Amino acid sequence: MRKKVTVIGAGNVGATAAMRLAEKELADVVLIDILEGVPAGKALDLMEAAPIEKHDANVIGTTGDDYSPAKDSDIVIITAGIPRKPGMSRDDLLSTNMNIMDAVTKNVAAVAPNAVLIIVSNPLDAMCHVAYNASGFPKNRVLGMAGLLDSARFRTFIAMELDVSVESTHAYVMGGHGDTMVPLPRFSTVSGIPITQLIAPERIDAIVERTRNGGAEIVGLLKTGSAYYAPASAAVEMAETILKDKKKILPCSAYLSGEYGIRDLFMGVPVKLGANGVEEIIEVELTDDEKAALDHSADAVRGLVDDMKRLK
Ligand code: NAI
Ligand code: 2OP
Repeated sequence: MRKKVTVIGAGNVGATAAMRLAEKELADVVLIDILEGVPAGKALDLMEAAPIEKHDANVIGTTGDDYSPAKDSDIVIITAGIPRKPGMSRDDLLSTNMNIMDAVTKNVAAVAPNAVLIIVSNPLDAMCHVAYNASGFPKNRVLGMAGLLDSARFRTFIAMELDVSVESTHAYVMGGHGDTMVPLPRFSTVSGIPITQLIAPERIDAIVERTRNGGAEIVGLLKTGSAYYAPASAAVEMAETILKDKKKILPCSAYLSGEYGIRDLFMGVPVKLGANGVEEIIEVELTDDEKAALDHSADAVRGLVDDMKRLK
């Protein structure tokens, strides 16, 4: 039977994700948005590209609260919400997006009770909490996309610095998706060689800083919204890994139950991703400084989760 992936939010990230899913022929795609006509229009446009792009994935788009086309989806990618404008932090999106995430997730859970949820909307780790609570799904079936994007940015900057293929690079970013994210040079390599042996410390510091500001750098350039090509690629790589039960180890926001000494919090950590969603959280040994940075990031995420309780 064909796989089905539903994408909620037919905006920049959602529509680009739908395009990549269809063009990779990973699944039939359902696009849902509150905007009249937009999801149906984008879906039809994607279908009309199919003869040229050579795929047979069906893409349909619907508007409103009728989630029946999403019935029995294998994966639901949630991008609904508002993105950042210049001068806004991801956290400024909290109150608007928490209400959207709550409503959307309840609709999803009613029609696709066995789906794996990939959350994209910001502030990412806090939105994972909302989706986890609203869905009632087990913790392995709710995860967030951020670490893969942040690591891809880190890899891009490493490749630029060394003039090597991005394919030879590997990088890790842990922690929350925000200013406190924790890029880890010690675990970042070029064909297995740690970048600490290849790049001078002050250049590594600059690359780490650029990675931390990667989202803001794009917002500053676009001015009307935030990044979407790389975010869509990252969400689709997570979906592909799950659909194909590949068991890749990818940095994702996952619910921690004591791993890394952190409890009851979604945070970016290395995860084994497979058909069951989060199949294992990989615990790597951190130095005292790295652990302190992770704890600092956890405090920031916990602050947002507490803010949401006050905003309710
Ligand atoms: P966008 O504004 O282009 O698209 C968002 C879409 O959500 C709009 O079409 C809007 O109509 C729709 N929407 C709003 N309320 C809805 C509802 N109740 N039901 C269904 N659809 C609804 O924004 P974009 O650029 O696609 O970003 C989407 C979200 O993803 C933002 O919150 C953004 O901050 C976040 N994001 C997260 C990233 C990450 O690394 N986790 C990376 C990039 C974006
Ligand atoms: C990004 O990192 C805005 O979270 C989004 O590009």
